[in-house]
Amino acid sequence: MPESRTTTVTADSVAAGLEDARARTHRLTEIDEPELLAQHDPLMSPLVWDLAHIGQQEDLWLLRGGNAACQGLLSAKVEQLYDAFEHPRAERVTLPLLGPAEARSYIADVRGRVLDGLERRTDEDLFPFAMVEQHEQQHVETMLATHQLRSGAPLLGSGASLPSGRPVPRDSVLVPAGPFELGVDAGTEPASLDNERPAHTVEMPAYRIGRVPVTNGEWAEFVAAGGYDDPQWWSERGWAHRVEAGLERPKFWAPDGSRRRFGLVEEVPADEPVQHVCFFEAEAYAAWAGARLPTEQEWEKACAWDPALERRRRWPWGDSEWTPALANLGGEALRPAPVGAYAAGASAYGVEQMMGDVWEWTSSDFHPWPGFVPMLYADYSAPFFGGDYKVLRGGAWSVGGASVRPSFRNWDHPVRRQIFCGLRLAWDVDGERETAVAAR
Ligand code: AVJ
Ligand code: FE
Repeated sequence: MPESRTTTVTADSVAAGLEDARARTHRLTEIDEPELLAQHDPLMSPLVWDLAHIGQQEDLWLLRGGNAACQGLLSAKVEQLYDAFEHPRAERVTLPLLGPAEARSYIADVRGRVLDGLERRTDEDLFPFAMVEQHEQQHVETMLATHQLRSGAPLLGSGASLPSGRPVPRDSVLVPAGPFELGVDAGTEPASLDNERPAHTVEMPAYRIGRVPVTNGEWAEFVAAGGYDDPQWWSERGWAHRVEAGLERPKFWAPDGSRRRFGLVEEVPADEPVQHVCFFEAEAYAAWAGARLPTEQEWEKACAWDPALERRRRWPWGDSEWTPALANLGGEALRPAPVGAYAAGASAYGVEQMMGDVWEWTSSDFHPWPGFVPMLYADYSAPFFGGDYKVLRGGAWSVGGASVRPSFRNWDHPVRRQIFCGLRLAWDVDGERETAVAAR
């Protein structure tokens, strides 16, 4: 298959990317000390842990090439406090962590040395810098989830304005049977992480996929129809969780039709993609709607494949870089955009809002692609393969613009819903009948 257009990573682009991520980190952590030190929810770390952990990872991967035996800017005793495998989130608040001022000066010190190094050695492999930039952006998203869980008066405002929606058919598009190239390589996507590689051809039967994500209005119909009380829509495990956790509606929704968003209470907007539903809820909604969740392969083909040119696009809309007119990314909006807001961002198949707005649950478990090779940060993906995780695709409004791609794979436990996650539906098709319909 022909190669799609490539992109490059330069010393200037990684420096700019690191600084973008840092500006976002500061915006979420320039708040009163008690807010930084508190544990806002048992699911999350105190923000001051994320703050220093961002620097600790940068120190490890960019100043020491990943050699943990070599001492960084922190003593070994302090550094291990920021090892995510050693300390579960729920107990981080009890650790003797660096205070806010110490954490800020530590991460600034690391960053200064990293940028100096970048200036002097422009011939080196820039992938680790792109990797660390994405790591910081991922923690920015985690910190946004912490802010969303926090109770109290708003600290972040109501969010930047978004394009308005448009009347868009709430229908599905046909993706005809045929091969496509799943995943990417370093040559075409130099910033891609290990679990996105290598590119390989997969043969796929025809299917249909929702043109837009499922909205709050549609979800409210499921609630009103008693969908949360009828085990027929739920998997066995999903129903057991629904009962045990007492699920009745998306997280942050109140029974009166309002929701809490970063401390603001507002009416649930009907045309916005639904967020804060777990995998089990998404699965039940899909069954109730006479549909199912897409596999991650189906999701990626509908997003990136150009059937006319028989090659991948870098983005659903083509090879041009993201702009705010094409997808809701970057985190400033603090919410998803209404459906129909991004006609120009549609994929070759006409599927809209695949990038940004909400992470979309897929039916897929998290496994490596054939030929997987771990990257420098070898424990980023591999320890999670085959675990109790479902893959999410497409990024959300909360994701840094340069830190998601059509090939990007996120994963989380099927019960989680504090992340900015929603869904899009898919359907099996009878191949012959659909071909006839499409030809008419
Ligand atoms: C890719 C979002 C699942 O937060 O667990 C951050 C990202 N890994 N630091 C996570 C990550 C290490 C990861 N996810
Ligand atoms: Fe991390």
